[in-house]
Amino acid sequence: MRKITAVLIGAGGRGLHNFSPYILQHPHEIQLVAVAEPVEERRKKIQELHGIDDSMAFSSWEELLDKPRLADAAIIATMDYMHFVPTCRALEKGYHVLLEKPMSNDPKECLIMGDMAKKYDRVFSICHNMRYTNFFMTIKKLLDEGRIGRLISIQHNENVGWWHMAHSFVRGNWRNSDETSPMILQKSCHDMDLILWMAGADCTKISSFGSLTHFKRENAPEGAPERCLDGCPVEEQCPYSAIRLYLSEKPLWVARVISMDQSIEARTKALREGPYGRCVYYCDNNVVDHQVVNMEFANEVTAAFTMCGHCSVNGRTVKLMGTKGEIRGHGEMNELEVFDFASQTREIIKLNNEAGGHGGGDYRLMRDFVRLVASDGKLKGLTEASISVQSHLMAFAAEKSRVEGRTIDMKEYVESLRREIG
Ligand SMILES: NC(=O)c1ccc[n+]([C@@H]2O[C@H](COP(=O)([O-])OP(=O)(O)OC[C@H]3O[C@@H](n4cnc5c(N)ncnc54)[C@H](O)[C@@H]3O)[C@@H](O)[C@H]2O)c1
Repeated sequence: MRKITAVLIGAGGRGLHNFSPYILQHPHEIQLVAVAEPVEERRKKIQELHGIDDSMAFSSWEELLDKPRLADAAIIATMDYMHFVPTCRALEKGYHVLLEKPMSNDPKECLIMGDMAKKYDRVFSICHNMRYTNFFMTIKKLLDEGRIGRLISIQHNENVGWWHMAHSFVRGNWRNSDETSPMILQKSCHDMDLILWMAGADCTKISSFGSLTHFKRENAPEGAPERCLDGCPVEEQCPYSAIRLYLSEKPLWVARVISMDQSIEARTKALREGPYGRCVYYCDNNVVDHQVVNMEFANEVTAAFTMCGHCSVNGRTVKLMGTKGEIRGHGEMNELEVFDFASQTREIIKLNNEAGGHGGGDYRLMRDFVRLVASDGKLKGLTEASISVQSHLMAFAAEKSRVEGRTIDMKEYVESLRREIG
């Protein structure tokens, strides 16, 4: 396999802590030759790690993509609302593209990108890393082998840990859908994608309910100040205390996000001045903390999906019901149980915990992207944009259903978007 070159657009959480480490660990496969990132500290860090000269370091994607093509591939890891234009520009310039999910926070832009994926003879992959996990790849293999006969129905839960909910969807980047994306798109486009993949047919109808119930001003404990560091009387009992989440000796990964300098002083300053020190009941958040979605597919498979931000762990639990058996799966435990109706036997499949983020999905997706680019687009991947567009539209349709209180017919929805595009 030939070695490929890449540029990185956006060196935030994903750029710096996911794509960059993979590239550093696989110098024989891929080399990073340029970076675009407005925050100097992050840009310099990438330059230092990958030996990138100042002439190949840019403070915005516009500057980088104004240059003649600098590499085989562009990895685009900017925020959701900054995916569409850089992706179109990169494809036009002849880059193969790996784009972070969601493709865009506008359904029409997703449709256009799906069309572009067919028009350009380039690899255009979406970072739906969950498809690449051992857990979901094994489920898909069992379904394809007919281990439970014909699939009839899917139950799929996305459990969002209470701390992850507070960090990302109450205090952090994805708290407000007016600025970024609704929760069902931002957090659960992975799940729409997995359900579509497992169902194995187009989605025909969708309905959804949900709301933001807990993280609101009226639920603030009496006497709670706007920031956790300002002498909150219930701080010690509060599960969402910023002090506990970000200032402990060995904090969760969320602490890494609030400041590049991980000293207690720097983290305390970030909590005093930045968004992550705010009381969870006094944020400018509006995304739901729980949502359910019902789906019907063209092959009569039905699916019921639940996302809830009040869970003990992050992870997915699934149940797939077929004519000959049932598969139950617990993502966090990396374990599957296959029950066969005829023999009444139960097989427990314990899967290996793989290296890399998202249950090894991040690592495998990158490895596959490199392989696809090295083949110059001759090989096909699991998460091409032309496939991902449908699951993104399912997420938008679910949100429309939740807001408008009606069932959405997918064909009519897509046709109406096409008419709007003109
Ligand atoms: N695949 C997954 O499982 C997964 C997980 C987390 C996040 N994401 C997605 O990854 C994307 C990035 O998330 P993140 O957590 O890294 O966000 P982030 O805010 O940490 O990173 C985005 C970076 O883009 C930079 N940026 C802003 N304007 C720019 C410009 N003009 N040119 C170049 N860079 C610019 C920002 O300075 C920032 O460093 C989001 O779309 C998010 O949904 C995907």
